[in-house]
Amino acid sequence: MSNESIDYQGILEEILEEVQPFFGKGKNADYIPVLAEVPGDKFGMAVRTIDGREFSIGDAKESFSIQSISKLFTLMQVLGFSDCDIWSRVGREPSGTAFNSLVQLEYEKGIPRNPFINAGALVITDIINSRSADASRRIDDYYRLLSGNPQNRVDEVVATSERNHGFRNAALANLMCSFGNIHSPIPEVLEVYFRQCALTTSCIDLARAVLPLACAGYSSFAGQQILSAREAKRINALLLTCGLYDAVGSFAYRVGLPAKSGVGGGIVAVLPQHLTVAVWSPELDRYGNSLVGAQALELFTTKTGLSIF
Ligand code: DON
Repeated sequence: MSNESIDYQGILEEILEEVQPFFGKGKNADYIPVLAEVPGDKFGMAVRTIDGREFSIGDAKESFSIQSISKLFTLMQVLGFSDCDIWSRVGREPSGTAFNSLVQLEYEKGIPRNPFINAGALVITDIINSRSADASRRIDDYYRLLSGNPQNRVDEVVATSERNHGFRNAALANLMCSFGNIHSPIPEVLEVYFRQCALTTSCIDLARAVLPLACAGYSSFAGQQILSAREAKRINALLLTCGLYDAVGSFAYRVGLPAKSGVGGGIVAVLPQHLTVAVWSPELDRYGNSLVGAQALELFTTKTGLSIF
């Protein structure tokens, strides 16, 4: 089937119906207490084709907490810095451990396995922080540029909740600092990281913001080349192998797309040269990924016949 002839809107409607039995099987994140208060029955999904068509359903326009999906945008931002070798400080391998695990970091001498686990994201944030007077603003501006939506802002209530319960992130940053792999003052890095995770966005905006990964680095919203085609290819490879933490293998098996999840319940996925798709549903599986969201993406690639494989 050529993807011009696919009835995306009809497929989204079928998905909305078919995911209904999966609500109530997962659980909102509660280690960041305000995330537990989001109604568990929320569901939105948005598809954006590279020729500019957009399809959406449910709560696709509603804002939610971006959480770890921000790690994708900070990585894109840092790879856009011309003189920056991040790969001496962060690996490119799946971790096989939870996103906030400390164990591996100790025996691998403070070098996180990849940029999408919390430790790796903290290093990326440290890199942005050491190059900017206002790193938080720089990260938000970058996301606003890519999503084309100046309304995407930090939710201060979520940021405070992150800050007040950020014990593991503080432990990760301290451990890495002891190995010399955090260069800025730890409280600064943590504050920027908590704020990037507390950005709000919608499925529609996420699908727009990741377009450079489907379009060889070009963002039609920013009106510019954000990354080289080669960097876009590399990020997609990292998403496929590391984007869903210790559930990445079964997600690739079920869905077949590079993707990034967040504990706010969002997942964004990319089919290079074709489309991007974002889904939001706050109840998570035991790996911290949206349970209904993963199911919806599996239905999407099955029904459309589109995946990278
Ligand atoms: O740092 C944390 O633990 C959260 N702010 C983000 C974690 C997250 O979203 C993991 N994703 N599935």
